[in-house]
Amino acid sequence: MKYFLILLFVTFVSNAQITTEQLNLMPWPQNIKLTAGTFALSKKFKVNITGNPNARIFIGATNFVRRLDGRTGLFLEQSFLTKVNERPEAELQINCVRNGKIEINEDESYQLIITSNKITINATSDLGALHGLETLLQLLQNNSTAYYFPVVEISDSPRFTWRGLMIDAARHFQPVDVIKRNLDAMASMKMNVFHWHLADDQGWRIELKNHPKLTELASDGNFYTQEEIKNIVKYADERGILVIPEIDVPGHASALLNAYPEIGSKVGEGKITYEVQRNSGIFNATLDPTNPKTYEVLSSIFDEVCPLFPGSYFHIGGDENNGKEWNANPAIQQFKKDNNFVNNHDLQTYFNMKLIPILKKYNKKLMGWEEIMTENMSKDAIIHAWRGTNEGQEAGGALIKAAKSGYNTVLSNGYYIDLMLSLESHYLNDPLPKKIILSPEEKARVLGGEAAMWSELVTTLNIDSRIWPRTAAIAERLWSDESVTDMNSLRKRLKTISFRLEELGITHIRNKEVILRNISNNQDTRALNDFSNLCEPLKNYKRNGGGKKYRMHSPLTLFADACNTDASEALDFNVAVNAYLSDKSKENKGVVTDFFKKWITLNSDLIALSSNAPLVQPLLPLSKSLSDLSEQLLLLIEKKQKVSQTVLEDLLEKCNTRSPADVELAVYGSLKKLL
Ligand code: ACM
Repeated sequence: MKYFLILLFVTFVSNAQITTEQLNLMPWPQNIKLTAGTFALSKKFKVNITGNPNARIFIGATNFVRRLDGRTGLFLEQSFLTKVNERPEAELQINCVRNGKIEINEDESYQLIITSNKITINATSDLGALHGLETLLQLLQNNSTAYYFPVVEISDSPRFTWRGLMIDAARHFQPVDVIKRNLDAMASMKMNVFHWHLADDQGWRIELKNHPKLTELASDGNFYTQEEIKNIVKYADERGILVIPEIDVPGHASALLNAYPEIGSKVGEGKITYEVQRNSGIFNATLDPTNPKTYEVLSSIFDEVCPLFPGSYFHIGGDENNGKEWNANPAIQQFKKDNNFVNNHDLQTYFNMKLIPILKKYNKKLMGWEEIMTENMSKDAIIHAWRGTNEGQEAGGALIKAAKSGYNTVLSNGYYIDLMLSLESHYLNDPLPKKIILSPEEKARVLGGEAAMWSELVTTLNIDSRIWPRTAAIAERLWSDESVTDMNSLRKRLKTISFRLEELGITHIRNKEVILRNISNNQDTRALNDFSNLCEPLKNYKRNGGGKKYRMHSPLTLFADACNTDASEALDFNVAVNAYLSDKSKENKGVVTDFFKKWITLNSDLIALSSNAPLVQPLLPLSKSLSDLSEQLLLLIEKKQKVSQTVLEDLLEKCNTRSPADVELAVYGSLKKLL
């Protein structure tokens, strides 16, 4: 009896009631009602599925059980789920009214009820039920010996129907496993659109049986076979994700025109040829919209591409046609005159409109980057907004203009994760900013948004760290209520979510060590890791200014590739500086000066490491500048010595100069504040 009481006490104390704020949920659900009590997880835990769901829920529920088992090590007795209503006594009951369609505007809502002895997920469609399972996994808690769920009632549904991620597989090819692990991560963040950029100036990435030349000549052997495409589309479907292919035309066409130069717009002496591009940038290669053969080739390409993708949308790109080849081609200029086209936009609209019936054959609607939005463009098209900043958008950018003009539209400006901008900049970028007044119909045309992972500077090694965890913040912006904007809460939850993403195979944490080990020449990586927590890769494409430093075959195994946005120690230092500036207590001073001492030692450690690691050399100028400034600041703050303001300012600016390592010191802003 005494033993029983102690046991009861231990269990009671260690399953202490948690608060809503302590839950590490992402995206944050619409309604949460947490009450006292817990559901204890045991190896007897069983799952039962009722209703009329799509078979994907059995795969989803099995994956859920395996992930739960992987995390807890309980050897759960629940095996693979195969049949409806086999286990009416099961602890987890999933009920889906009907088969979910992988389309936008599908009902993705769910209700999750956890009591002390039963868990219920109710959803209209299996897609909602899949979301409910992700939420349930995020709710798992533990004490020192066991796992449990809190007693809670959640009802949830997305704010926006389009919650996408675009991956550019053209600039740097991204193999099947990269795509699959990112689909898993997307599903865990309740994202539902995968936009696959399959062709660009630097490569053609999709096998076409009727056009083998495309992959033979313009892929360097790196492309998806049709079987792989089908397999990925199925994998995405099982996770509730719609796949939208993009074949970028009429610009961004160097790879296509490398194989079919006869449909290009270039004029000149002799045989016209096009090269697959090895640099980044905007190139001239543009399809000839006046040539009937152009539409024959595109039509037969679409004949093969469309059936691989069951969804209703096809992205034709349409961006950044610089018009140079059109302007230089007399026959194209004459064609414009003959058709009363005022400018190249009119000509591009003519071209776009010719694609609509080709796509209609396969029940596909056209989607394109914002440049396709011209006066005569079909209102059936989806406009994909991408240019400028969010402020630009508020001033009447493409998203708002499209919604007001009667187009459905998707936002990607503000969600360009390849720009290496902060978590906060993406998180606070609302598709419907408060300042913008739109009618209910106009608002409804804003379908949502898409994170854009352009791949000029990513390989399989670093791509995950550019997508995650920032895309989780974008997923929350697109799913959760607009009032969910607290950065402290986001950062706190993201720490746990990052580990959950890693559990799904995302390599954003672990590959940092892989990169640093190479830089260190297989020596101790601690100093490099410490320095990486102070540095961020150059932003806004400055790393590859002009697009010529990093070619498609250049190394992306460098210090900048190990660094990420929101450098953790820079955030900590900023907190310390703010505290010190508002209260110059001995304690606050000590916290700040400890950073300086650490950075001086760090510089010595990096110098020592560099003696047998050439890749460390490019870091040394920046670490020396930081160390020199730290020494002066220590003299000033700790020793109360007089230090020349000019010397300080010179040293500070040295901390702000372009580093040969293509990173910037993320502590610069806080140091400046301190001075
Ligand atoms: C784009 O970034 N060119 C759509």
